[in-house]
Amino acid sequence: MLKGKHIVLGISGGIAAYKSAHLLRLLVKRGAEVQVVITPAGKEFITPVTLSALSGKPVVSEFFTANSGEWHSHVDLGLWADLMVIAPATASTIGKMVSGVADNMLVTTYLSAKEHVMVAPAMDLDMWAHPSTRRNIETLRADGVEIIEPASGELASHLVGKGRMEEPEKIVERVESFFRRSASLEGRKVVITAGPTYERIDPVRFIGNFSSGKMGFAIAEECAARGADVALVAGPVSLSAASPRIRRIDVESAVEMHDVALRECSDADVAIFAAAVADYRPACVAESKLKREGAEEMTVELVRNPDIAADCGRRKRPGQVFVGFALETDSGLDQAVSKLERKNLDMVVLNSLKDKGAGFRTDTNRVTLVTRDGEAAFPLKSKRDVAADIIDAVERMAGYGQP
Ligand code: CTP
Repeated sequence: MLKGKHIVLGISGGIAAYKSAHLLRLLVKRGAEVQVVITPAGKEFITPVTLSALSGKPVVSEFFTANSGEWHSHVDLGLWADLMVIAPATASTIGKMVSGVADNMLVTTYLSAKEHVMVAPAMDLDMWAHPSTRRNIETLRADGVEIIEPASGELASHLVGKGRMEEPEKIVERVESFFRRSASLEGRKVVITAGPTYERIDPVRFIGNFSSGKMGFAIAEECAARGADVALVAGPVSLSAASPRIRRIDVESAVEMHDVALRECSDADVAIFAAAVADYRPACVAESKLKREGAEEMTVELVRNPDIAADCGRRKRPGQVFVGFALETDSGLDQAVSKLERKNLDMVVLNSLKDKGAGFRTDTNRVTLVTRDGEAAFPLKSKRDVAADIIDAVERMAGYGQP
């Protein structure tokens, strides 16, 4: 499964470092080439001799080899790696990763890593629960880092609680699942609409909505991480897409988004309509700024915008999988089912504005995936994890990766 895969194993200074030897052995046994990078504190817990014997490679820890002056290039290591796993990651290493404090080889390698990064934290329960750690973990998640949550149990302090590094076997499962997923959409084209649309009233005003685009961008990153060619049709948002596999097409209005989406969907395998499209636009756009002098009231006449999902759905060919969203103020199952039919979609992602942590501008979401076969409700998760659930369901529905 891991044959020929290049993995950088980062080890920082915690008691759990002794488990890293076992993790390293499991990875090597499955055929991975593993390069260990250890922090100075890590060496207090496990020796480089053990690690280099298990990996068959010298362990990297210093920027230079003391006697020869040979420079160890973190950039080369970052490019070499297909995956970086930091296990254990202490509170201090996590803090340095978040703020870019590049004072050791592990953090410099992390900052140069081009591919996916997984972090398995290990610390005392109070440190894990501290607001500083909570903030840092959320920042890492937002940066696209996969967090392997610590388990509960007895800790080095003899206290019992959450903070134990996840067991090496479980970490290996996550590594294998990452490599399985990373190719699951290879050769597929995925079109995603994201963000709000702005409908101009005059040169300085528009009708818009509170959509931040975060859900659509998370889906785009998830698809790119699985090897898809992604066309991201983005309304006005202040987000940037990290993956080079994402081709971003910026639009402003629903009419512009409609034109681009129709064109892009014609040869797509999957389309996901995550944009919060304005249903109406001003019937005419004033050429100069509207003045308020003398006018006690103002009426803007609105006309209907095209329904992008429905128009693409009408042209859907066999084999294409199209997914829409339904943001409702109530539970909205009936509306989701009706949108599925009306727009000729294969799945509707239902979320409710009534749910705490779901909807606009949050980093989390709670969704129910509605298909013609029934519905599946998921708990509150980060938008990136929600994106993974949505894409897992799409892949199952499309039969990707199945013999
Ligand atoms: N959608 C679209 N074009 C529109 C309106 C909606 O592509 N003009 C898409 C959204 O991206 C979403 C789905 O249709 O995937 C449902 O959007 P929503 O606004 O909830 O549905 P509407 O059809 O506008 O119904 P209503 O607002 O009446 O609930």
